Amino acid sequence: MPEQSPEPQAVVAPVTRSTIFIVATLAADDDGLDTVRAWCADVAALVRSVGKRVPDGNLSCVCGFGSGAWDRLFGAPRPAELHPFREFGAGDRRAIATPGDLLLHIRADRMDLCFELATLLVGRLGDAVSVVDEVHGFRYFDLRSMVGFVDGTENPAGREALEFTLVDDDPEFINGSYVLVQKYLHDMAGWNALPVETQERIIGRTKLADIELDEAVKPTSSHSSLTTLEEDGREIKILRDNMPFGRPGSGEFGTYFIGYARSPAPIEQMLENMFVGRPPGNYDRLLDFSHAVTGGLFFVPSADLLEALADRSPQAADADTEEAAAPALAPVAVPAPAPASQDGSLSIGSLKGTPQ
Ligand code: HEM
Repeated sequence: MPEQSPEPQAVVAPVTRSTIFIVATLAADDDGLDTVRAWCADVAALVRSVGKRVPDGNLSCVCGFGSGAWDRLFGAPRPAELHPFREFGAGDRRAIATPGDLLLHIRADRMDLCFELATLLVGRLGDAVSVVDEVHGFRYFDLRSMVGFVDGTENPAGREALEFTLVDDDPEFINGSYVLVQKYLHDMAGWNALPVETQERIIGRTKLADIELDEAVKPTSSHSSLTTLEEDGREIKILRDNMPFGRPGSGEFGTYFIGYARSPAPIEQMLENMFVGRPPGNYDRLLDFSHAVTGGLFFVPSADLLEALADRSPQAADADTEEAAAPALAPVAVPAPAPASQDGSLSIGSLKGTPQ
């Protein structure tokens, strides 16, 4: 990251024991939009206030905005690749889109920290939003997913994590990210009835020691094969922080999938590979035991932009545009032409043109 570049939100954050995911929709009338914009400038201070009380609690919060919400709240300019969640599927395997304007991803090593921050953030939004989904996730033993396998092993780390998650070619949105979430529910009885060796071939790794299966025995339909993308010989990664959740008393066992990337394209390609198959029909057998009940795509502005968005509004943006378009009293600066990579591909060539 060059010096003086905008501070990212806490997209690349330490692995924590607890998480709260909140998805909210904006109220239908526009009365609350000012409240949401003003809230954007308060988020960092609230994270500091709660986080400082337990200095080693690793509290963080990432806020993202859906495509429609961006237009209503902030207008132009908008992130080049922000669009409504694209659905994928074949037969009864469906990656469905569900309503969502605002995403909060709150992480800490203690649920009380997450809970306190969520209470303050949601409280301040008041009637301006309705929470449509709230999931309290927990870390299961040694970073196991609900299906019993270690989750997150192949995540990029360090500099690679920043490279794969932060936007660097959309001038107004430098160091923002795209984030895709899906809430999955599992048929644990069905999954647990499978022999461990079958489960391992579905995931593509060993269950106890979390070692990748040898290519000679790993099926091309394994979860790890279908979610491995290569372009020009280089692997394209995303950063995941899935969390198990559930209510045993109600028979609910789930995984909340969350993936960050510098473009939605690789995450969408993975979804297509999993749900439709690569090639079509060679789909992810994890989906025989898991179904997605939500789906949303959000843009995460940099922390600096998040704060500045408090002073943006579509009206203000219109006024700026009108001013720029008005007969010039003084020379008007011509915006630089969009870089070639703004065609939606974000320089990941073969991923370009994934189904809409
Ligand atoms: C890898 C679980 C959904 C992308 C893995 C691993 C597990 C796992 C256990 C192996 C360990 C690791 O490297 O993290 C799950 C579960 C899911 C789910 C339980 C929900 C039912 C998804 C979705 C995507 C995805 C929806 C992408 C859209 C990946 C990627 C890897 C991975 C990129 C690493 C592959 C590699 O490089 O080997 N997942 N996952 N996962 N998953 Fe998932």
